[in-house]
Amino acid sequence: MNEVEVWWARVGQARPEFVADLNAVEQQRYAAYRRDADKARFLLGVTMVRRLLGARMSLPSASVVLDRTCPDCGKPHGKVRADGVELSVSHSGDWVGLAIGTAPVGLDVEQIDSRVEVDGVAGMSLAPEELAELARAHDKPRAFATYWTRKEALLKATGEGIAGLQSVVVSGPDQPPVVLKWEGGAVQLADLEVGNGYAAALAVLSPEPLNVAVDQFRV
Ligand SMILES: CC(C)(COP(=O)(O)OP(=O)(O)OC[C@H]1O[C@@H](n2cnc3c(N)ncnc32)[C@H](O)[C@@H]1OP(=O)(O)O)[C@@H](O)C(=O)NCCC(=O)NCCS
Ligand SMILES: [Zn+2]
Repeated sequence: MNEVEVWWARVGQARPEFVADLNAVEQQRYAAYRRDADKARFLLGVTMVRRLLGARMSLPSASVVLDRTCPDCGKPHGKVRADGVELSVSHSGDWVGLAIGTAPVGLDVEQIDSRVEVDGVAGMSLAPEELAELARAHDKPRAFATYWTRKEALLKATGEGIAGLQSVVVSGPDQPPVVLKWEGGAVQLADLEVGNGYAAALAVLSPEPLNVAVDQFRV
């Protein structure tokens, strides 16, 4: 069995004093965010990783060693990595999520924006068969967010990111979540419930069936 922990927190749980536990790179990234909400989401994501891994390793959260090096350019804006575990962080609107597994994991949460012009974004991110399915959806913003999070979860598990969106085909929003076309190996995909107005999905690169334990992060 493929066990994955998913932790959710609300952005309001972030506190300025958490900054003290961030490493130098994280403090620089924190300072560079202009909007308070972006600062809070980033800070809470880092804090969740540090505190939850610290608790597992019996270490103070500031002592947890994290690597954020981007494999493409070397800057510290890549997928967060730590020895001995697989991690994925996602934030959107009110929510910050963290997945912890043993096989590579990808977590994606998106606030559903009912004002967004779905067709434009969908044309750039969905495959032709997905676009045809989306055209039949009653609630297009929700259907698109379901597609997006399923695809993005997989691409966050591989580390590829949004560049690969059109190369992946997943099942339609009214179908159970599965990957229909992809050049990679075995993958497990799950939709997650976060809150009203949000879509979220989890992908794990493994042939083993998935067992997800979901919990609220408490500070
Ligand atoms: C990175 C990316 C996957 C984030 O998606 P998003 O929906 O905007 O944001 P999310 O909140 O869901 O995810 C952000 C988290 O993903 C993680 N992340 C960053 N790059 C990642 C990647 N390539 N793969 C998986 N996870 C990644 C980080 O942990 C980040 O959180 P943190 O920096 O606060 O710790 C997406 O923006 C993307 O694909 N960007 C382009 C990737 C790229 O071009 N990389 C090369 C740059 S030189
Ligand atoms: Zn980069």
